[in-house]
Amino acid sequence: MNIGIDRLSFYTSHYYVDLKELAQARSVDADKYYVGIGQEKMAIPSPDEDVVTLAASAAYPLMQAGDLADVELLLFATESGIDQSKAAGVYVHGLLEMAPRCRCVELKQACYSATAGIQLAIGFVARNPTKKALVIASDIARYELGTPGEATQGCGSVAILISADPRIMTIDPECGYYTEDVMDFWRPNYRSEALVDGKYSTMVYIHALVESWKQYAELTGRTLADFDRFCYHIPFTKMAEKAHQKLCRKTKVELDNQAMQALLDESLRYSRITGNCYSGSMYVGLTSLLDLAEEDLAGKRIGLYSYGSGCVGEFFSGVIQPGYRAALFAEQHRNLLENRTELTYQQYENIFNYGVPTDGGDYVFPQYKTGAFRFSGISQHKREYESLV
Ligand code: CAA
Repeated sequence: MNIGIDRLSFYTSHYYVDLKELAQARSVDADKYYVGIGQEKMAIPSPDEDVVTLAASAAYPLMQAGDLADVELLLFATESGIDQSKAAGVYVHGLLEMAPRCRCVELKQACYSATAGIQLAIGFVARNPTKKALVIASDIARYELGTPGEATQGCGSVAILISADPRIMTIDPECGYYTEDVMDFWRPNYRSEALVDGKYSTMVYIHALVESWKQYAELTGRTLADFDRFCYHIPFTKMAEKAHQKLCRKTKVELDNQAMQALLDESLRYSRITGNCYSGSMYVGLTSLLDLAEEDLAGKRIGLYSYGSGCVGEFFSGVIQPGYRAALFAEQHRNLLENRTELTYQQYENIFNYGVPTDGGDYVFPQYKTGAFRFSGISQHKREYESLV
């Protein structure tokens, strides 16, 4: 049975900071960000946006299209969750008025957990072929002001519908995966900003890639030449390029800059202007590739590398299906990204310092624009949301 991605919808905040502004505030040459790490803009969530509203807005087009009717499993992948007990997906289930016959849990392993979610969802569909699973990856990447990680912040969510006979991409059964207990990036419960050993994290990312690829190659007998495009986890776009260069060197494949652009560039464009969104990052890359590639990718095999610090890596692959373009939300994504509002550095810092809302606070949220849903406050320790549709 062919199982894979039937729909793919991306959502990010309406606000961004141009990294030229950040560079000026930090007295850094803007090309360090634009060229050195390959990032131009970072999406900034307004105070009334969180992982729930981002996720509900990402999945809303699927609700409108009637695609959620047969969903009996909702897996919510995040590392910036809003409750230690209740799964963020249960709020989304409510906001999207999904059927009560549905399993719903939250998954965490840094930026990797959506991929675990997809593999679990494939198992669910294999056993229940007429049913569907919704995997939502939703995160807000937040580092302390003035730290090296600051320019790699961002936010976003991707809603991924998994079904039999999928319209977009079948997922191959073979995968290579790798776990090692390391401290390259982490966020203790008492902190709202992540801690990271930056240079070390880039080395671990690549080590886990090489190990995952080795297993995948042994299982399938495939070589890098068997793929038409690659999508990597994208903490910043330069990281994906460096990872692919390293994999080519290790496997003795020649790769000039033009060849690398042809294999990777379409998948990096959304991330370059939105930033890291942790668990959704690789799937933003896949969305970007499918939306923007001028070439018809039907029948082409895509290599996918998912990485979550701490760390777990997985290399897997999929084959794009004939007619896939009709199942995409490319037009909505284009409108979203073209109609955002730029923040000044001061506005960015004000939003950053707004802090984590707690019960009893006198929160009057500034009326920033959100998507279809809005976080409206906390009362008696209960988060409240509004549907704007
Ligand atoms: N013009 C062009 N390039 C310039 C430049 C200029 N004026 N100034 C500097 N550069 C280049 C540097 O030469 C460097 O390039 P190389 O990497 O090719 O040497 C690049 O810009 C970055 O400069 P630095 O190495 O000096 O940057 P930094 O140390 O200040 O920060 C970082 C880099 C450590 C990766 C930092 O962005 C960071 O900590 N990021 C967060 C952690 C992260 O994203 N890790 C990735 C792997 S972990 C993961 O993937 C999980 C996750 O999502 C977090």
